[in-house]
Amino acid sequence: MTTTLLPALRTTDPAVFGRVAVLMGGTSSERAVSLDSGRNVLAALQSRGVDAHAVDGIPALVDALVHGMFDRVFNILHGNKGGGEDGVLQGFLAAFEIPCTGSGVLGSALTMDKIRTKQVWLSAGLPTPRFVRLPPGADLRAAAQALGLPVFVKPSCEGSSVGAVRVENEAALEEAERVAREYGGEMLMEALVVGDELTVGILGDVALPSIRIVPKGGWYDYQAKYVAEDTQYLCPGLQGEQEHAIRALALAAFRAAAATGWGRVDVMREIDSDKLWLLEVNTAPGMTSHSLFPKAAREFGVAFEDLCWRILEQTLPIDGGATP
Ligand SMILES: Nc1ncnc2c1ncn2[C@@H]1O[C@H](COP(=O)(O)OP(=O)(O)O)[C@@H](O)[C@H]1O
Ligand SMILES: [Mg+2]
Repeated sequence: MTTTLLPALRTTDPAVFGRVAVLMGGTSSERAVSLDSGRNVLAALQSRGVDAHAVDGIPALVDALVHGMFDRVFNILHGNKGGGEDGVLQGFLAAFEIPCTGSGVLGSALTMDKIRTKQVWLSAGLPTPRFVRLPPGADLRAAAQALGLPVFVKPSCEGSSVGAVRVENEAALEEAERVAREYGGEMLMEALVVGDELTVGILGDVALPSIRIVPKGGWYDYQAKYVAEDTQYLCPGLQGEQEHAIRALALAAFRAAAATGWGRVDVMREIDSDKLWLLEVNTAPGMTSHSLFPKAAREFGVAFEDLCWRILEQTLPIDGGATP
């Protein structure tokens, strides 16, 4: 298939970036993954001569910025609550006029909330599974009746499948109710999509080749995906027109959600109809050796070091004007 090429590099001089904080770790549940991602990004930037330094968590960054130690931030914190993916970090940095990689306040905050992201997609005519919003104390049985089983129940503002429950029948609904009570925050109940799970990386204005996540022993096995270690990743995940369609949809969904710079859009493909359904956007995807975003970039011909450079380039002012 024909692919859109990436634009030429905007600079080849690492000095242009000044001192760069690679912000990693933090206090979210995804701390360990973030440290792994961060170390990789740091090594990649340093290998290209960038004056990059590790900073662990937002308080340490605040301290360093107060002392004028950094010119820009490569954000590789994952998650919310002390993670850097929910708009809090972005607002703080905007106030200090410190450029940062990835989405701004709006894109970060919106995509951290699955319910509001889906509402925006629906209003833009983009396909996302039918759902019911579940505020704390909501009646899960009534919601399940409205949607029809099976359904997926998940927190609106968590990641990494934290608190997600697949509900096939009435008995499983009890377990979902227990999880919802324990969680205590806003959740959503979503129509279950039976089919393939795919993800599409976005780099600037380009959708990278999709990745299809294939659990061993079947095309659809939730247990296998999360418990077993022999999951396969196919890239590109689809062929021809279908691959073209998923990339176009992911890019449209990313833009509609006000996400910018780079990120990953999770999509389900219904087995019976080939229809694509949008699940969510991640604005600071993993950059570990197992992560999907660098895999897709590699398939596109972009090595890890080039990928980190290109993401960092997005913090440079456009035509000498304000930073994005
Ligand atoms: N509506 C759905 N139908 C089928 N599977 C789903 C559905 N929603 C979520 N899942 C499964 O749960 C996983 C996590 O859901 P997702 O919405 O991507 O949230 P997060 O990755 O933030 O936990 C998905 O990758 C997919 O395997
Ligand atoms: Mg996901």
